[in-house]
Amino acid sequence: MRIFLLGFMGVGKSTIGKYLAEDLHIPFVDLDEWIEEEVQMPISELFKEYGEPFFRKLEFDHLRKVVETYDRFVMATGGGLPCFNDNISYMNEKGETVYLKASIDDLTRRLTASSGDRPIMKQADIKQYKEHITKLLSTREPIYSTAKWIVDLQLEEPASANIIRVGTVINEILAKH
Ligand code: S3P
Repeated sequence: MRIFLLGFMGVGKSTIGKYLAEDLHIPFVDLDEWIEEEVQMPISELFKEYGEPFFRKLEFDHLRKVVETYDRFVMATGGGLPCFNDNISYMNEKGETVYLKASIDDLTRRLTASSGDRPIMKQADIKQYKEHITKLLSTREPIYSTAKWIVDLQLEEPASANIIRVGTVINEILAKH
């Protein structure tokens, strides 16, 4: 079973994904980390040196490479992945897509506290994060929402509460398989 976790930057795809994979005893794949290892360069540098289209092509290729090689995993996808090159349809066809959904306010709070080295967040001043997130989400949300499963998260709550929320949906998925 292939489980793809989708959602906006900072929503917790990697944290939740690692935990779920361990619980299900299946491998965990962080697609961004795979790309970074493959090209031996952090994503922030990739964006700087080669630009976003180059990164999107790498994402596209690596997604397919992982899917063609493995049929059991939990994957944390990059926040933009589903929204480029119709990757969402590909993932919907190849496995179970789970959209981890959070409110704009929760995402703004979390990314303002720590935006890490994310190039897409560097496009805006920290004071404009809410507007930036709102604008990006307005284009991404319709695509995320075509995932097979949607889980509403509360980012103010401890990670454990959100892991339980996603776990409930995973159990539903398992029941269908
Ligand atoms: C991106 C999100 C990042 C990473 C890249 C682009 C995006 O992943 O793939 O910086 O376009 O939203 P996270 O969602 O894990 O931060």
